[in-house]
Amino acid sequence: MSGLIKIKTAIFISGTGSNLKNLIKFSKIKKSPISVDLIISNTNKAKGLNFADQFKIKKKIFNFKNIKIEEKKILKFLKEKKIKFICLAGFMKILSKNFIKKFDGKIINIHPSLLPKYKGVNTHIRAINNKDKFAGCTVHYVTQKLDSGKIILQKKIKIATRDNPSSLAKKVLKQEHKLYPAAIMKIFN
Ligand code: GRF
Repeated sequence: MSGLIKIKTAIFISGTGSNLKNLIKFSKIKKSPISVDLIISNTNKAKGLNFADQFKIKKKIFNFKNIKIEEKKILKFLKEKKIKFICLAGFMKILSKNFIKKFDGKIINIHPSLLPKYKGVNTHIRAINNKDKFAGCTVHYVTQKLDSGKIILQKKIKIATRDNPSSLAKKVLKQEHKLYPAAIMKIFN
């Protein structure tokens, strides 16, 4: 990327926020095309919100009880903050068609499976139960169809015979932390 201006990015979370923390750290390196300017959560219980305080980044909670109203508020807020790019990182709400259209091609997500396999939740349990030999993670564009947008990058790892859903989740998460920044680099460079 040329110049010094980074793309103002919002990260949407619902939980622990390890990908959020990782993206914040990535955003601070010189070659990163993005800056993390806003953290949005659908719950005040998301542990990841602590990283907002730690790294002095603006955070905002929208409860999503009435999705239409909440999304309107979010869109207004994103505009105010001049946000141009959105990374979903463990965000457990489904964004509406209208919202996605407003940020067409500007929302990406990380998913803990080798898409198109295992869309939705409990990916690791399903992979283990099916005795899969491989698992992995995928960064993809967000479209109206859940976990179905164009794939940007994917990382495949071997499932060991002794793996259980939680050990596998740990292994995959480690890869996610490499994959998400790599996918962003791929998009903007
Ligand atoms: C990750 O496995 C991500 O792929 C999935 O939710 C998890 C979030 O983990 N969408 P964290 O909150 O980033 O630690």
